[in-house]
This record gives sequence, structure tokens and C-alpha cells, in this order.
Amino acid sequence: MRVLVLHGPNLNLLGTREPGVYGKTTLGAIDRMLGVLARELAVTLEARQSNVEGELVTLVQQASGRVDGLVINPAAYTHTSVAIRDAIAAVGLPTVEVHLSNVHAREDFRQRSLTAGVCIGVVTGFGAESYALGLRALVAHLRGATPKPAARTKPPASSRARRPRRPS
Ligand code: DQA
Repeated sequence: MRVLVLHGPNLNLLGTREPGVYGKTTLGAIDRMLGVLARELAVTLEARQSNVEGELVTLVQQASGRVDGLVINPAAYTHTSVAIRDAIAAVGLPTVEVHLSNVHAREDFRQRSLTAGVCIGVVTGFGAESYALGLRALVAHLRGATPKPAARTKPPASSRARRPRRPS
């Protein structure tokens, strides 16, 4: 099983970039930690970083047929990039979106993710551990241990709220 980890813009600065928000762990240390976890999970892992939206689109496209799934931190492009969203949708690879910070506890403009809707799930707010959790979740999904998204979108009829009957 092969997995590609993609890091978006400014994540190359981790370690010195706003350590109060993103922690002090460098990108190199995150990739090394993921490498160790990947070996534990018997997965072949490749990690790439780019500050350029189009390069990330190309990396997603080139992943098609080469890897089984993606872990992506689109960083600021999470909130702006239709192109990265479309690339993920186009290749159809199971993808987990991850964020170091809890984007929902931050500014309004970070509350919206354009990419999350084409991912199988999102892990946000656990620092470098978000990547580890994301990789574990992706591998579990690829090995069939988690339900497919379609199975989760509609609760079974028995658990759906009944509409009160109209008086006749
Ligand atoms: C981030 C959150 C984004 O809002 C931000 O633009 C980033 C990093 C995170 O990992 O917490 O660059 O994706």
C-alpha cells in the first residue's frame, strides 16, 4: 500500500512559524515521525511540500495510479482553492485532510474548507499528531475497517426522527 502526504504553503516554515499556533515541530520531524509510523503500518510513504497551488494540483494528479490514498494539509489553500478540491475529486483517491491547529477555533475565514467535502474525513487541532491520526485513519479506510462515506450520510430509518402526524 502506498500513501502520499502533501503539505501546502508555509508548512516548510514549521518550527519557527507562529509556534504558539503550530507548535515547534519542524516539517522534517513530522515527515520522519510519519516514516516510522508508515513502517509500523507496513505502508510505503512519500511526502512532498509546495508553496504553489498549481504544483499541488499537479502532485495530486500525478498521484493517480501511483498511490492508494492521500493525506493532505492544504494549509491556506484549504480555504480558497477550488483547483485543489477539483484535483482531489478528479483523481478519486481516498484523501484525509489534516490541520495542525483547530481551524474551527480560529478566524471566520478558516471555518470554511473547500477541500473537506471531497475528503473521506478531516483531523484538525492535534498538532503534528493530526498527521499521525490522519495516516492511521486513511490506512484503516483503505483496509476496509471504516464504513464508506455513503453509508454514513443517511442514518437507518429506525433512527430517523418521525414527523408528527397531522390531525385529520
Ligand atoms: C493549517 C491551518 C490553515 O488555516 C493555515 O492557513 C495553515 C495551516 C493548519 O495546519 O493548522 O497554513 O492548515
